[in-house]
Amino acid sequence: MPGLTLGDTIPDLEADSTHGIIKLYDIIDDSWAIIFSHPGDFTPVCTTELGKMAAYAKEFEKRGVKLVGLSCDDVQSHKEWIKDIEAYTPGCKVTYPILADPNREIIKQLNMVDPDEKDSSGNQLPSRALHIVGPDKKVKLSFLYPASTGRNMDEVVRVLESLQKAGKHKVATPANWKPGDPVVISPTVSNEQAKEMFPQGFETADLPSMKDYLRFTKV
Ligand code: BEZ
Repeated sequence: MPGLTLGDTIPDLEADSTHGIIKLYDIIDDSWAIIFSHPGDFTPVCTTELGKMAAYAKEFEKRGVKLVGLSCDDVQSHKEWIKDIEAYTPGCKVTYPILADPNREIIKQLNMVDPDEKDSSGNQLPSRALHIVGPDKKVKLSFLYPASTGRNMDEVVRVLESLQKAGKHKVATPANWKPGDPVVISPTVSNEQAKEMFPQGFETADLPSMKDYLRFTKV
């Protein structure tokens, strides 16, 4: 199956949603966006995930990110389901739109189909896919999880911060990086350039190769 992947431009889809008929580009505008799919309404893991996403909505808003959920059931079902989601995660309000996709067109175009999951009528179901899309409408990062594994919203915030830092400075984030930890300077930046670009300074790891490619700084 052809699949939307890193660097691809997402299509400007029109869909019915809990906010009415929407076009993806109108919702995203010039912002970052997180588009995340769920296998189905009134299912246990999905109910916890949508509540957690709502609970983290302020974190995403602070970082200039629009949220768009998707489940294949219809809008009436989504609206009923939101009552359960908000009751299960007290204090959360599902203010982001949830797209409906009864004909499974959107999940195909956004590479969100789980080949192993079918509903009782044999229809395809979405995986737990999550695309982080930049203001240029290109996919910057994707998760593809199976139905059995709920996503961790701290991880979503972590990778978003990494992407936004890398987009702003010539840096990357090392293994197990957390927001606030030092970042590494991109290997495309020479030491001379790094002195100018990072006046706060940087530390170079001593390595057996004596090569000075592992340089840490704070941004
Ligand atoms: C769930 O959300 O718990 C779920 C949905 C579909 C298949 C398995 C689990």
